[in-house]
Parts: sequence; structure tokens; C-alpha cells
Amino acid sequence: MPGLPGVFWFPMKLSFNNITKNFADLQVVEHFSSEMQTGELVALVGPSGCGKSTLLHIAAGLEKPSAGSILADGKPVTGPHPERMLMFQENALYPWLTLVQNVAMALELQKAPKAEARKQAVAWLAKVKLQGFEEYYPHQVSGGMRQRCALARAFVSQPKVLLLDEPFGALDALTRMTLQDALRDLIREVRPTVLLVTHDVDEALFLADRILVFSHRPATVLKEFNLAHHEKSHDLSEFAAMRREILSLLGIHAEQEVVNPLEGVEV
Ligand SMILES: Nc1ncnc2c1ncn2[C@@H]1O[C@H](COP(=O)(O)OP(=O)(O)OP(=O)(O)O)[C@@H](O)[C@H]1O
Ligand SMILES: [Mg+2]
Repeated sequence: MPGLPGVFWFPMKLSFNNITKNFADLQVVEHFSSEMQTGELVALVGPSGCGKSTLLHIAAGLEKPSAGSILADGKPVTGPHPERMLMFQENALYPWLTLVQNVAMALELQKAPKAEARKQAVAWLAKVKLQGFEEYYPHQVSGGMRQRCALARAFVSQPKVLLLDEPFGALDALTRMTLQDALRDLIREVRPTVLLVTHDVDEALFLADRILVFSHRPATVLKEFNLAHHEKSHDLSEFAAMRREILSLLGIHAEQEVVNPLEGVEV
């Protein structure tokens, strides 16, 4: 069982059942059904404003579906719970707390004793290569380091479900790659069920077991890509074909990509 020594770890299955979501007369999600298996990483990609964050908020229990149901391990999601952790793109840390206090806070909110929370926080900061920066405040470290700290805070309480909303969207391409590596290592160690919203198709291909490509609002799934059975380092031509197909579903054409291959593929 992955996780900290001595800690039993059971990730959780998520089921979206025929979810429709309206905000007043704006229909944002239409008849969305999908199951995320325990330990699976599913990436959601789609045009801006199509409803991806809304789906994460529904899974987090912050929004209620207008119709349909969302189940976590077979039980209806009725509100936020620490076992389903949402990580935002930016400003995820409290500026008035040091890095170690930010991470420990996640455990203290769950009534962990202060000394134990701090010990765990130090350990998780080390896992994301932030040893030596424990007593720094967020404004004293780089954007990439802040997101590393946010990752440590997301993982420290060992959520069963991790909901990541463009966690690296604000970072430059190089920093993003190192953060993707860090995230992949943490996921391998802990094996939570992960829903990852990203506008970066390469990030989705690198990290995901499955990719759902959404239409314009109201969000419906245009196509699902299963990567779990691919050996990522060997199936390069299949990956290139999948990448082309995903970009084309998103209406991005090869000539646009050449202009700006890594950045700004805002889909
Ligand atoms: N609380 C809310 N009240 C009213 N409308 C909302 C609310 N939350 C989201 N919306 C609307 O729902 C639509 C989808 O928003 P959402 O944030 O889910 O899109 P998104 O796919 O995450 O977009 P992006 O890629 O730009 O982050 C938008 O038109 C947005 O204005
Ligand atoms: Mg969003």
C-alpha cells in the first residue's frame, strides 16, 4: 500500500452520473457521465469557459449539480471534505504563513496535534525539494517553489481524491516540466484518484491515464483517449497521432502550433 509508512491508504472511485449544471439560464455542463477508478489520473481538456472548473467544483462539493449525481465510493457528495482536495492554479498559499505553516495547516484543520503536523509538513516539503525553505514566506520564494509548496500541502493530508485546476498554468514551460515530474513522483508514491484540468495537451499526455476532450459550453465529451496501457516511452508515434487528434478536436491546427509550440495553446 503506498503512502507514509504505517498509514493505510485507500483511494476512492468517483462517479459522475448524467450531470447537468446550469447557472441561471446558462447551461454549462450537459449530461456528463464518467467514472474515475481508484488511483486513476484523468485529464480534462477543453475550450476556455466550457465548464471544466465547474466539474471540479462539483466533485469537490463546492457546487451542486442541477441534475444528476456525483458519488465518491458510492456515496453522494454533499459538500467539501478533506478526503477530496482541490488545488487552485494560483494564490493557493496563505501569504501570512511560512511554507511549513502553510503545509502543517492542512493537517491542523483536521485536528492533528501541532508537533505532528509540523513533522509531517517538514517531511512533505523535503519530498518536493524545499528543504531549507521551511521558514520562508510565500513572497520570499519563486512561483515554482510556491506551487511545490502547494503540492506538498495538497498531499500532506493524504486526500483520496485530488482535484487539480490548472496547477501549473501560470508557470513558464521549463518550471512547469519540473513540477510535472514532482507531481508524477508524488502520485506514484501516494496513488490518489486525480482529476487534472489543464490547457496543456502535452501535460495531459505526460501525466494522464485517460484524457477527456470537451466541447465548447455546454461541456460534453467529444472523445476519450485511454493511455493507461501505453508504454509512454515506446509508443511515440501513437502519442504524436493522439496529440494531433486532440489538438484538432480543440480546433488548433499545426500552423498555429509552430508559432508557439509550448506556450499559449489556450484551448
Ligand atoms: N458561480 C458561478 N456563477 C455563474 N456562472 C458561473 C459560475 N461559475 C462558472 N460560471 C460560468 O460557467 C461557465 C464555465 O466556467 P468554468 O469556470 O467551469 O470554465 P472552464 O472550462 O474552467 O474555463 P477556463 O479554461 O477558462 O478556466 C462560464 O461561462 C462561467 O462564467
Ligand atoms: Mg477553469
